[in-house]
Amino acid sequence: MNRKTFLKQGCFACISSSFLLSALESCTAVKYTTGKLTDKGILVSLDDFMSGDKVLSYIIIRNDELQFPICIYRLDANNYSALFMQCSHQGAELQVSGDRLVCPAHGSEFDKQGHAMQAPAAGDLRKFSVAISDNSLFIDLRKVHS
Ligand code: FES
Repeated sequence: MNRKTFLKQGCFACISSSFLLSALESCTAVKYTTGKLTDKGILVSLDDFMSGDKVLSYIIIRNDELQFPICIYRLDANNYSALFMQCSHQGAELQVSGDRLVCPAHGSEFDKQGHAMQAPAAGDLRKFSVAISDNSLFIDLRKVHS
């Protein structure tokens, strides 16, 4: 193998492996849980925010009893925001894109607090009260606030 071929194949292998690595990292970054449904809300273990020794910045609750998933952002060790992933524009299900929730229907964007950042949505997302106790988060589905 000559130098030119080695560099071509080496660069391709390097680019391919770094692309694959970043693709795998983005796949493993999203963590889903069903939580534990009670008559007042959902309990989620704080351990669900762990991925190995890494603390995740958000997790998603998907539960058959919920019409839409709930995204829980970890703002810091003592503050979390629980956002109903239904767009305030026309009700499409939102997707997480890092620290934003993005609507695939018409492009609205919302921040980690559920505030509308990009039109056409003008209203904020439904946000649930979150309480921390005994290594768990309690998402109170009865209390919605903005
Ligand atoms: S339904 Fe989300 S932007 Fe229109």
